[in-house]
Amino acid sequence: MDDATIDAPQRSKNITWHLGRVSKDDRERLLGQKGCVIWFTGLSGSGKSTLAVGLEERLLHRKRLAYVLDGDNVRHGLNADLRFSPEDRDENIRRVREVAALFADAGVITIAAFISPYREGRDTARGIVPDGRFIEIYLDVPLAVCEERDPKHLYELARAGKIRDFTGIDAPYEMPLEPELRVPTHQLSVSESLDVIMQYLEDHGLLHGEALKP
Ligand code: ADX
Repeated sequence: MDDATIDAPQRSKNITWHLGRVSKDDRERLLGQKGCVIWFTGLSGSGKSTLAVGLEERLLHRKRLAYVLDGDNVRHGLNADLRFSPEDRDENIRRVREVAALFADAGVITIAAFISPYREGRDTARGIVPDGRFIEIYLDVPLAVCEERDPKHLYELARAGKIRDFTGIDAPYEMPLEPELRVPTHQLSVSESLDVIMQYLEDHGLLHGEALKP
């Protein structure tokens, strides 16, 4: 990425915001849920994708509409032009946070699963959704455990010097200071981790919305 694109300042001129006649509240009443962003962060191999798809399924069984935005998947399409330099990771998260905020505004329980190694990028993502609608979940797992799991054999390649800028090896990970939830997936089963997350969503009223009035 060239430097000029990183913060993507608004370049277009003569554009105005066009207001619709259907509000977020209308959409939430229609869906009977609250749009929000559940943001998983953690090292590669910490369990983000596993918990994201598990959570989406649990929510479906509760008749709640959720949608997963996953790092590896998004990098096949929307972000196929990005690699893993600090600038490209920033741009990855910038695009994804905007997409996540749009989904949340649509009333969807949006599940983002990205390493998202920089605190600032995650904090900015939090800042563009309404208060209480951003749930940061830190998968608090030691590097040694992730490396032992190594489901994609990427740590092996990184240690052998065949992949560069690998998070935790030769690229940084800044852990969240005050996440809404901290889930040690090396100490809990997948099912137990999902129980903790579902309980949080339940306790914070995110699984309920008023029924649409006729
Ligand atoms: S992020 O840092 O920009 O948030 P993202 O979550 O999109 O990363 O992608 C991470 C996934 O890309 C990892 O789970 C792994 O499968 C793959 N990957 C390939 N190269 C790297 C690398 N150098 N560092 C981290 N992940 C990598």
